[in-house]
Amino acid sequence: MKYLVIANWKCNPTTLKGAKLLFRAIKKGIKKVRNTEVVICPPFIYLPILKSEAKGPSFAVSFGGQSCFYEEKGAFTGEISPKMLKDLGCQYVILGHSERRNFLKETDEMINKKIKAAMEAKLKPILCIGEKKVRNAKGAITNQLKKDLKGISKKDFNKIIIAYEPVWAIGTGKSCKPERAKETKDFIKKKINTKILYGGSVNSKNARDYIKVAFDGLLVGGASLNAKEFVKIAKSVSRP
Ligand code: PGA
Repeated sequence: MKYLVIANWKCNPTTLKGAKLLFRAIKKGIKKVRNTEVVICPPFIYLPILKSEAKGPSFAVSFGGQSCFYEEKGAFTGEISPKMLKDLGCQYVILGHSERRNFLKETDEMINKKIKAAMEAKLKPILCIGEKKVRNAKGAITNQLKKDLKGISKKDFNKIIIAYEPVWAIGTGKSCKPERAKETKDFIKKKINTKILYGGSVNSKNARDYIKVAFDGLLVGGASLNAKEFVKIAKSVSRP
């Protein structure tokens, strides 16, 4: 089984030049990474340019969007459809990220529609779930999974990737203790038997700890904007 290490660049870098530089630096370092699939999720507008830079025999990364709309096309100003992402060569799409839930007011109903639309377009959704408060993990997760996966057949669950991201751990430097994260992962696994990633203040020092407690990979935000640090993370995951 391959581990997944996903770079969520969020709304960064602010220039195309910066995006190219970051991508090239990652590309250089990642060459020797084995048994790990590295997925770059840049802002939409950088996708085609970075994709064209990604070619090369000894180098393989995949691409993903940071969101998508739930309709294929039409009068939806400002939206990007799953079909468009697929057409650009994306294989993945992050959905339900807490920043979209909080700042963009995405609801579980919208996320549910987006997951279905992404699957229809043959994209792999990376569904982000997690509790806002440290103590409420199981309740929050049960609620999110119930609503986000509504109407999706159990036999298709393995087409969805779950990213367990405690909201309080995102961008705060306070990562969830691996043992505690494992407990929640095991709880999620009973509800949906698929790949489960950890996300929330991952860095090169703690990355390996989540693999040790049997996470299938990582969703990396802030640390993915530093090529050296991100490459270190990918390498520490892929170590046998
Ligand atoms: P972080 O972000 O690594 O900066 O905490 C993770 C995420 O938001 O996916």
